[in-house]
Amino acid sequence: MTIQKGLKGQLRVASDKSITHRAIILGAMAVGKTHIMQPLLSDDIRQTIHGVQQLGVDVVITEHNDIIIDSLGIADIQKRQFDEPIAFNFGNSGTTTRLMIGLLAGLGIPAVVTGDDSLTRRPMNRIVDLLTDYGADITTTDGHLPVTIRGGIMTDVINETLKVPSAQIKTSLLLAGLSAGVPVIVFDDFQTRNHTENMLPSFGVTVDCQGGMIFVSGDQRLTATTVSVPADMSSAAFWLVGATLQPGSDIVLQDVNVNETRSGIVKVLRRMGASITLLNERVQNGEPIADVRVASVSQLIGTTVQGGEVTTMIDELPILALALARSEGDSRVMDAGELRVKESDRINTVSETLVAYGADVKPTPDGFLITGVSRLQAPAESLSNHGDHRIAMLQSIAQLLTSNDAPIADQAAIGVSYPDFKRDMEVLMHA
Ligand code: S3P
Repeated sequence: MTIQKGLKGQLRVASDKSITHRAIILGAMAVGKTHIMQPLLSDDIRQTIHGVQQLGVDVVITEHNDIIIDSLGIADIQKRQFDEPIAFNFGNSGTTTRLMIGLLAGLGIPAVVTGDDSLTRRPMNRIVDLLTDYGADITTTDGHLPVTIRGGIMTDVINETLKVPSAQIKTSLLLAGLSAGVPVIVFDDFQTRNHTENMLPSFGVTVDCQGGMIFVSGDQRLTATTVSVPADMSSAAFWLVGATLQPGSDIVLQDVNVNETRSGIVKVLRRMGASITLLNERVQNGEPIADVRVASVSQLIGTTVQGGEVTTMIDELPILALALARSEGDSRVMDAGELRVKESDRINTVSETLVAYGADVKPTPDGFLITGVSRLQAPAESLSNHGDHRIAMLQSIAQLLTSNDAPIADQAAIGVSYPDFKRDMEVLMHA
């Protein structure tokens, strides 16, 4: 494959991972048949599907690749007699794990939860300690997986102020409260992604959101619904940066979720001088979506990313770092210590990757110091992606910008969130 020109054409990138996980779990908690239209069908999502199936919920993937969840609801799951603790292995999926632990703790179902090597290195005490505070009988293994749920009954009102900027913690608490039938009030001053709050009303649940406060009263029954899943900003981000930096590019990414808790990357790239236009803006299932047009620009200007902005683009910081590495002047990413506990220690793995491409990137305890260079260069030897899907895609985009060879695309790693990444790369390169 030879690059003659920039990226061109239009396509719909992978559907939103966070929204698909939530639709499956809420569908399992609801009474009736939930239809999930255009869901993401990736390795992480299959973990969530399998997880709810282990609870006895019926899940079908239709010939059009939609998901139908047929459930009798929370009360029915709770009544089932499981002979022994259910053994869950959620592979690489942190979202499945933290959300399902909340659900299982609220239901009081005995279970042992584990995952792959990367997942067993990630902190679980951030959620387990809180659930314990509110009455669940649940323990970690030195703060990590395996997590054992013994079936305690949560009767206390959940009233928590988030200390870590994590939507997984917030959602886990909301799911625990809804499944235990206790009221939940969460103060989220970080304004983490709000898909759960946006989706619950479609399932008939009243949610009171005021500023950073989210309140859900106990004893609300979920009723099945239809959820249409937009395209994922976290997947679109690779093309936002790729098309911005590859001369002669002009692409349109369709139906992208532009929820402001997720679209910090657009704001920051525009501040750096990128040409990004939102077209056809609309709202679907409580989520703002748009078609996103990106054209290449000759030069980006470096910037500082810190504070609340970090939360709105936590998964996009690896690919933003590539844009910063090719920008004029000095850039800094601060307050992003959470990157150290993602699928890999992304402060180290991003720095290592970009340095191998000739960038001037220094890791700091909570981010990066980057001095822009005008040219990157493909490394002579192939790099490890540390089994991290976003590092694998970062490497593919870096390769696209620096070489005329077919970009590497480690399907095994990338399949976690963007199974058709390589196909989309070919479409945009050949259009
Ligand atoms: C997610 C929340 C984020 C994000 C992850 C998906 C979610 O994790 O990094 O990819 O769907 O809630 P944290 O909540 O740990 O920040």
